[in-house]
Amino acid sequence: MNATGYLSHDVLVIGSGAAGLTLALHLAGQGRVAVLSKGRLQDGSTWFAQGGIAAVLNDSDSTEAHVADTLVAGAGLCHEDAVRFTVENGRDSIQWLIDMGVDFTREPGGTEFHLTREGGHSARRIIHSADATGRAVSSTLIEQALQQPNIEVFENHLAVDLILQADPGSEKLRCTGAYVFDSASDSVKVFQARFVVLATGGASKVYLYTSNPDSASGDGIAMAWRAGCRVANMEFNQFHPTCLFHPKAKSFLVTEALRGEGAQLKLPSGERFMARFDERMELAPRDIVARAIDHEMKRLGIDCVLLDISHKPADFVRDHFPTVYENCLRYGIDITREAIPVVPAAHYTCGGVMVNQRGRTDLSNLYAIGETSFTGLHGANRMASNSLLECFVYARSAAQDIAQRWQQVSAPQTAAPWDASRVIDSDEAVVISHNWDELRRFMWDYVGIVRSRKRLQRALNRVELLQREIGEYYSHYRVSSDFLELRNLAIVAELIIRSALSRRESRGLHYNIDYPEPGAIARDTILVPTNFAGQDIKLA
Ligand code: FAD
Ligand code: SIN
Repeated sequence: MNATGYLSHDVLVIGSGAAGLTLALHLAGQGRVAVLSKGRLQDGSTWFAQGGIAAVLNDSDSTEAHVADTLVAGAGLCHEDAVRFTVENGRDSIQWLIDMGVDFTREPGGTEFHLTREGGHSARRIIHSADATGRAVSSTLIEQALQQPNIEVFENHLAVDLILQADPGSEKLRCTGAYVFDSASDSVKVFQARFVVLATGGASKVYLYTSNPDSASGDGIAMAWRAGCRVANMEFNQFHPTCLFHPKAKSFLVTEALRGEGAQLKLPSGERFMARFDERMELAPRDIVARAIDHEMKRLGIDCVLLDISHKPADFVRDHFPTVYENCLRYGIDITREAIPVVPAAHYTCGGVMVNQRGRTDLSNLYAIGETSFTGLHGANRMASNSLLECFVYARSAAQDIAQRWQQVSAPQTAAPWDASRVIDSDEAVVISHNWDELRRFMWDYVGIVRSRKRLQRALNRVELLQREIGEYYSHYRVSSDFLELRNLAIVAELIIRSALSRRESRGLHYNIDYPEPGAIARDTILVPTNFAGQDIKLA
């Protein structure tokens, strides 16, 4: 970095989860790569992934079966080409992880990998590392990245906005970097690169209750939208059916693999209720299970339902689910002997920045991968454990595209510095914390598992008001991490609400009581920003 806070690399990767680190590792032999994380390297959702990664890994399964299951879960809205592309590249992606050193669980006493089951899958096809797959994957990829001299990592660096410049020789804009807030020095630096990759994860933090870590504030989606990229299918936010319900537990997921291994959902009376909703019972796709739980909780006025695996041998439970076992025990729940109180919580952003199969967005030299992106894979409901797979497959594809274009893209001109000359320190930080809470609460109450036109309109009125306040704050006060996240969350909330309002049907994760049936034709909801400049590649 030079004295004025300028840094220059070949590739700027914003995000250090499964998607960002995979791409960085694939390009480390090619040139200088910067990887940013707004917290520690471990801070994304990847670290917390439990169940595993879906892929066709044995002869009793098939590509066709994985494709078919994904299409069914996606309720008519998956792009079949994206599904095939992902599934066909699954085995190679898993092999790459094994080559990197990820320690996946094997069959007892055997050399074969143990495969588990989750909702929507017709076969055992989830490779995993006990019930802490994300930790195993992340720690391996972080270790590998830290060993690469070409990869430079920047923790506590939060990308604020993308830098756009005119492409030499054409009128078009291209992305050449990002303004980045360094929370250690409380200053905004200029990161410039020939290629920029958004790998910032999802936006589930927009809801009051979520399984996600604090990093999931939709920054990449908001940055891309502000820069002029289209986003799609933002109304499809997935609610995971089973998060631990305990006053002291913050965002702890109880993996779906428990249900894959026989755990049963029950009411406080002991009655199993899923048969009333779907013949696949506890292994129905997530939208169905989450809605069933929501329905029963509202019908009976109860705070949670119960997930029970205590009928399985205690050793089996402890061996397969050590993380869930230990964490629940910390809250006084012994899952080998009693049922776990659970509730649904916001879990996954199926929509995102529109990309093609190579991860390219609407803007030249800007890529988006992982949960930030919309590839067309998930349709109206993501099938369990397909998202990590998508991270690995599209990160590699984007890396290949960047490598192929390496010689064609020149270094950018020096961008203007961040201008903080007209702002002062805030004297009313309470506005930020108040608006965070308000936003997340009305999103949960009005834009949650069950929606209505009236509630969505109410949410839109509120988010428009918040946007105005945030705009005023932004033009008067120096930025902080909390404020920048709030600014992004408000944009993402608005995108979700507008998408939900424009979908006049119920499909997959989007259920609106005013339009309870699916429409005849399944269509993506594509939102186009006012500064959309068009682009020359066919997107998803
Ligand atoms: P993340 O892993 O979320 O990483 C995002 C990165 O971006 C972080 O490094 C963050 O610091 C950084 N970042 C964000 N904004 C900025 C910014 N403005 N500036 C700089 N850096 C920024 N999926 C499965 O397939 N199988 C599972 O078993 C599974 N289990 C899950 C369990 C839990 C509890 C959760 C929350 C999710 C689970 N998922 C699972 C979903 C899956 O983990 C995520 O979709 C996936 O890990 C997303 O990876 P990512 O690389 O896109 O983003
Ligand atoms: C889980 O383990 O239940 C989460 C799996 C996923 O989100 O894909």
